[in-house]
Amino acid sequence: MNKLFISNWKMNLAVTESIDFSNEISRTINENIIKDNIEIIICPPFISIPYCFQILKSVAKIGAQDISKMNEIKGAYTGEISAKMISDYADYVIIGHSERRTNLKETNQDVSLKGINILKNNMTPILCIGETEEQRKTGEHISILIDQLNESSEGLENKMIVAYEPIWAIGSGNSCNIEQIIEVSSEVKALCGNGTPFIYGGSVNEDNCKELLYQKEIDGVLVGSASLNLNSFNKMISSMNGD
Ligand code: 13P
Repeated sequence: MNKLFISNWKMNLAVTESIDFSNEISRTINENIIKDNIEIIICPPFISIPYCFQILKSVAKIGAQDISKMNEIKGAYTGEISAKMISDYADYVIIGHSERRTNLKETNQDVSLKGINILKNNMTPILCIGETEEQRKTGEHISILIDQLNESSEGLENKMIVAYEPIWAIGSGNSCNIEQIIEVSSEVKALCGNGTPFIYGGSVNEDNCKELLYQKEIDGVLVGSASLNLNSFNKMISSMNGD
């Protein structure tokens, strides 16, 4: 299985900035001797996706950061973007990110509906799960994560990537340690099967990326802020080359 390097831009970079950054990423990837054991997936804001797709198509895949849960490819749903619409550009879609669960009150059922739409349109859902700091402290994190995963993946027949993103680790500079991540990986693989890729996100950066990618239990990383810095991006993707 290739290791996955997924860059989530979140609500960052206007269109012109996205174009400039994509050009720099393309140059960076071309200059690095990337072995064929890593797949790079870039997830820009919707508005920039067609531009980024054109610039990056020979070096990376595109992921969307969200998609409509409505079960139709078009219709009277103001503000929504269907999975069918984005499938001309994207191969992956992030769903269930804790920022959407918290800020937009998305439920496990919403996440599962989105995942079904993604699969119907031949893309792969990147399904995020994660516990709060409090839930980890009380030791209930595993049962919470498994419940989240079971409910959010209903109808997906394990055809997703599972992204473990502890809420307390996101944007905090405080990554989960390897043992903690491997514990969750074992639970997820026991539930979904070994063929379901398990990736980690939460304060991944140039200092910890290599160690994470080298673990056999971790199939990739989902990176936020560090992947918006070209120098860090460069160092992280070259870590698969043994640099
Ligand atoms: P950071 O890498 O900024 O902690 O964000 C992680 C994340 O939420 C990726 O989806």
